[in-house]
Amino acid sequence: MASKTASRALRSSLKQLSAPRVQQRTFVSAVNAASRPTLLPAAKTATATFQQQSRGAKTIDFAGHKEKVFERDDWPRDKLLEYFKNDTLALIGYGSQGHGQGLNLRDNGLNVIVGVRKNGQSWKEAIQDGWQPGKNLFEVDEAIKQGTIIMNLLSDAAQSETWPHIKPMLTKGKTLYFSHGFSPVFKDQTKVEVPSDIDVILVAPKGSGRTVRTLFKEGRGINSSVAVWQDVTGKALEKATAMGVAVGSGYMYETTFEKEVYSDLYGERGCLMGGIHGMFLAQYEVLRENGHSPSEAFNETVEEATQSLYPLIAANGMDYMYAACSTTARRGAIDWSAKFKSNLKPLFQELYKSVKDGEETRRTMEYAGRPDYREAFEKEMEEIRELEIWRAGKAVRSLRPENA
Ligand SMILES: NC(=O)c1ccc[n+]([C@@H]2O[C@H](COP(=O)([O-])OP(=O)(O)OC[C@H]3O[C@@H](n4cnc5c(N)ncnc54)[C@H](OP(=O)(O)O)[C@@H]3O)[C@@H](O)[C@H]2O)c1
Repeated sequence: MASKTASRALRSSLKQLSAPRVQQRTFVSAVNAASRPTLLPAAKTATATFQQQSRGAKTIDFAGHKEKVFERDDWPRDKLLEYFKNDTLALIGYGSQGHGQGLNLRDNGLNVIVGVRKNGQSWKEAIQDGWQPGKNLFEVDEAIKQGTIIMNLLSDAAQSETWPHIKPMLTKGKTLYFSHGFSPVFKDQTKVEVPSDIDVILVAPKGSGRTVRTLFKEGRGINSSVAVWQDVTGKALEKATAMGVAVGSGYMYETTFEKEVYSDLYGERGCLMGGIHGMFLAQYEVLRENGHSPSEAFNETVEEATQSLYPLIAANGMDYMYAACSTTARRGAIDWSAKFKSNLKPLFQELYKSVKDGEETRRTMEYAGRPDYREAFEKEMEEIRELEIWRAGKAVRSLRPENA
């Protein structure tokens, strides 16, 4: 389906993505780009909007809804160092988020220590990343003892499992930090009842810990949400936004713990991961059942999506992608999108209910509580890897000129 216009538009998007950083990461330019109806030159429009909306603006109009946002510019490095000068940030757990947030905090010059199980996988990885036992790498209890801001970045299941042990160490004056609302919101299941005399805050990066790190290293920043569960000092939100910038966020939008966890669990089960995988599989299978080759089926289902069309949506929105494609493609896509929406909406409603009811959390906790869950997970990954679609994908990727 790819058209000449599509490749031209992609080239222009790539050009735009390699534009100078300030223009590229300006929040207002993203807002502006999202509302751009046609293939206007991005740089020009971004500059115009930039002049209209000064960077100090903290309330952004998102499609008619005014929302508060916080930007990295609010917290220059000197201000961050001053703000946290008396704090020790104790990062508990060194998995995906621990790695990304921890290294960013360290590179930002903050006083950060890591607390993990001695000689476990994370301990070894932390040493590989330059954390030094006895200096800034400790066992969990010692790190919590030394820390003033306790960043609970254990896996969600481990947060629940370790809570009876950790809770008594969270004494008055400390702050508890999460990157997911899971544990406190579903406290009936997790038993994570926070002490009543400490601030409890959240910074939830909207991406994997690896992305938190790579964007930071590129001079960019992940988008995150911030929230406050409990504010005993009156400074909890301020602290949360400072933490958000310190761990590598470019900008943050404000939410609640509840909204964060509902939207996160819903999104990853839907368009971000589960839903999109289901769509890929369904489309691929029908193509194969109708005699199309694996390379054709994969190209028309995944490769063109990820390599050509989705980057256009990322750069400038859905209408921009439609506008970049042929009239034939556009006509059919618009017609069928309505059918997909009406058929899929009940499924999304069922999914949201399942999240809110706690059914999804129950399943996650039950699964992660099994002694063999790592092996069980690896078995499922192997089954996915072995599906024809993803084996075909491996061959298709090897043909990309940059992989030759
Ligand atoms: N990953 C993401 O993309 C992402 C994105 C946004 C937010 N979050 C949130 O960030 C938090 C951390 O997630 P993550 O994905 O970084 O976690 P993860 O990669 O699963 O990290 C697990 C960490 O927990 C430790 N751990 C597991 N069981 C333990 C136990 N019983 N006792 C002590 N330590 C234990 C592991 O240590 P060992 O190596 O010693 O087992 C490891 O350091 C979660 O709340 C998650 O929802 C994650």
